[in-house]
Amino acid sequence: MKCILMHKRIPVIELDIDNASGFLLKFGIPLNPGHLPIGTYIKSNVDGNMLRDWWMKRSIPASREGLKETLEKLNVGFSQGLLSKSYGLSLSDQYWVCPQGQDLKWDDINFFTNSFSEDMGNLLFSGKMRENSKNFNFLSPDNTSDGMLRKKWKIINGERYLIKSGSVPFRQEVFNEVIASSICWRLCIPHTEYILLTENGEACSASKDFVTPMTELVSAARILDQFKTPNNVSKYEHYIACGEKLGIIDIRQQIEKMLVLDFIIANSDRHYNNFGLLRNAETLAWTGVVPIFDCGCSLFYDKPDRVITISSVDAESKPFKTTHFEQIKLVKDFSWLNFETLNDISDEYAELLKMSELPDERRTLLCKALLNRIQDLKSYVCAFENKKR
Ligand SMILES: Nc1ncnc2c1ncn2[C@@H]1O[C@H](COP(=O)(O)OP(=O)(O)O)[C@@H](O)[C@H]1O
Ligand SMILES: [Mg+2]
Repeated sequence: MKCILMHKRIPVIELDIDNASGFLLKFGIPLNPGHLPIGTYIKSNVDGNMLRDWWMKRSIPASREGLKETLEKLNVGFSQGLLSKSYGLSLSDQYWVCPQGQDLKWDDINFFTNSFSEDMGNLLFSGKMRENSKNFNFLSPDNTSDGMLRKKWKIINGERYLIKSGSVPFRQEVFNEVIASSICWRLCIPHTEYILLTENGEACSASKDFVTPMTELVSAARILDQFKTPNNVSKYEHYIACGEKLGIIDIRQQIEKMLVLDFIIANSDRHYNNFGLLRNAETLAWTGVVPIFDCGCSLFYDKPDRVITISSVDAESKPFKTTHFEQIKLVKDFSWLNFETLNDISDEYAELLKMSELPDERRTLLCKALLNRIQDLKSYVCAFENKKR
């Protein structure tokens, strides 16, 4: 399929995509190089490998729970094959592909202001094909959603929500998203709010789309693809320097806040695609950091009960250091941190976990572990402030 990669209403580059596999075969000369995806245009040249990688990663990752069964049911070989069936449209950025010869307009087909089918989302979510699958409607932002957990986009009262499930055996991520939101709210950390709801008979978390028709998410991974880390600088300092260069003056403070949150919840999955920056998709002006999202893989969500009281020295972290105790050392300013706001947080977590199917014993351990981590952080901050004096 010959098509034009579009950025909202701006044509970016001609692409030739293999219909069956969805792989990017060829690309033309950029029409608007400034609008190429971040990380694919380096030193005034399109980096073919990076562009192919970007297109490939736009599809549902192979690690997604239930993807294999979904593709089998649809008789599609690779998730890349789903991309062109919905013009590669997303609710996290403004890229899409317009097949050659078709006079499609972003205003008529984007999912921010137009509705979309839930067929794909329901199939991915439940694993069940609806009756009368002959007129299955592929037009859905679910064909471009990232991440391992089962998820689907849904319009609720006119707002677009990303609904996420939890993973076996504990399905704890759902509740962790909600408690992480509450911790952020209490500590005044800019965040994406997660709520609990039931989808397909299952407790799920849901967050409103933090991208608008004007903006888009660019992951930290893409920023680091665009601006290579010099040998003598740490990834941490380099990422902050990139943000500052792009005009995000409070980036250090925002990243430090994220590291503090991640310490408290023992987040083990803050990889470079789980945070990033927002930019205006038309002017390309950078507008700020993405409000913190995807905090579910935390609070020992996949650990058996006997390791829940693990000390913070050992809790694994990402992306800058491998343990939280090392990673928190990157934070230089705790003056904004008011521990008193967290006084009753474990009561809130306990209430929340009552809605889960976890046994009492595990719920009690989790609440205790959360309190322990807050206590560990308090001790660390106390020692840090004393050292400064
Ligand atoms: N509220 C949201 N608004 C817009 N995009 C989102 C939102 N939440 C997640 N995303 C996008 O969807 C991707 C997958 O969501 P994420 O919560 O990271 O799922 P997972 O837990 O499976 O990794 C994210 O990497 C991000 O690009
Ligand atoms: Mg994620």
